[in-house]
Amino acid sequence: MKGFSFSKDILLGSATASVQIEGGDKNNNWYRWSERGKIANGESSIGGCDHWRLFKEDIELIKELKQETYRMSVEWARIEPVQGQFNKVAMDRYREEIQLLIDAGIIPLVTLHHFSEPIWFEDMGSWNNKKSPEIFEKFTEYVVENLKDLVEDWATINEPNVYLQGRSLEGNFPPGKTSTIDYFKGAGNLIKGHILAYKKIHEVIPKAKVGVVLHYAYFDSKDNKTGTRIAKKIVKRNFHEIFLKGMFEGKLLFPLGLFVKGVKLGDYCDYIGINYYSRHGVKSSRKISMLFTEIYVFENSKYNDLGWEIYPEGLSKGIEELYYQYRLPVWITENGTPDHKDKFRGKFIFDHLREVSKLLDKGIPIERYYHWSIMDNFEWDLGYSPRFGLVEIDYSSMERKIRKSGEFYREIIENNGVTQEMIEKYLKVESENENRR
Ligand code: FCB
Repeated sequence: MKGFSFSKDILLGSATASVQIEGGDKNNNWYRWSERGKIANGESSIGGCDHWRLFKEDIELIKELKQETYRMSVEWARIEPVQGQFNKVAMDRYREEIQLLIDAGIIPLVTLHHFSEPIWFEDMGSWNNKKSPEIFEKFTEYVVENLKDLVEDWATINEPNVYLQGRSLEGNFPPGKTSTIDYFKGAGNLIKGHILAYKKIHEVIPKAKVGVVLHYAYFDSKDNKTGTRIAKKIVKRNFHEIFLKGMFEGKLLFPLGLFVKGVKLGDYCDYIGINYYSRHGVKSSRKISMLFTEIYVFENSKYNDLGWEIYPEGLSKGIEELYYQYRLPVWITENGTPDHKDKFRGKFIFDHLREVSKLLDKGIPIERYYHWSIMDNFEWDLGYSPRFGLVEIDYSSMERKIRKSGEFYREIIENNGVTQEMIEKYLKVESENENRR
């Protein structure tokens, strides 16, 4: 194994989302979903990592780990618990948190919608409601007006594809009503919501950098049969392209235009935001519910605690595909792995950052990398058992403890790459886990 160093400037940091770490909020739809017993092991989002109370302590950890940038989300349900009534106290609490980051020289990137939303919004049909884009725009305006002196970098929507897959196709996300039509309706409204937010942010902060965060799943197949090729086209179109075309270019692919009006062509992203975790095998299927495609996991590979294949090349393939299409700076807004024993996270980081370094050598402008996540947290319907953190959380005492992989990542930031000594110190004893979900 040989080390590497980054040939261009890149900011390295980590990411979180409000409901996954904050705890204490009962106005968001994930709390209600928890109360309905929909989270693994009967767990609830209400505890989180107690970050709402412990944020100062957590910022100390972020500083200690030498993070240069930090991606966080603001919780819509806290800021607008009742439609049209904004909570200044919650807003000020976010201001305080962001100010502390800035004082420590850490650049904040703020996400406006990261899977969670107020219960009142869900009860209006959420993104199926044709007024949802304008309702989201009002929330955006309030947040941006209140943070305009502190925050320049924004992500409007986190993973519209995964969000809609969870709520409209698979039903593991609230409100759990599945319908293929809702998937496309929701996509159309999310696209319009993104565009309205993009424009609003630029109106308030002309020099802002605004984008959307796309979950890029690397779709692959074992054979090249016609059926497989068609299945791959369908899945890429419905999972990636409708959002890329819509959110980057204002182009509504069929059938989105049936549900949403008033979207004009334009440039609506300032960077390519990409979350990358794994490769997915694709084959054809007869099931309409999954849009005639079936996803599987490749055999004889390496897997994380949740059985997701570890496939670092997918990150560079994805970035190349998107970069040559849009020629914008690339921000890797999430990349990480659940590894409760911290046995292979270091190697995971090494392998993925080595891909990043190769792309930088080729001249692809990757400006940022955010590790998911700074700490263990509430992994949506899977609850607290997946451990994604550079920092371990003991949920009974809420004690934080930096993992060895966290120390490794800190040294990568300090050294602008990985030295031979670091390989000896951190990667020699690691072996990858073969567990399946
Ligand atoms: C992504 C989500 C993030 C986290 C990671 C593991 O899809 O954006 O909140 O749950 O997966």
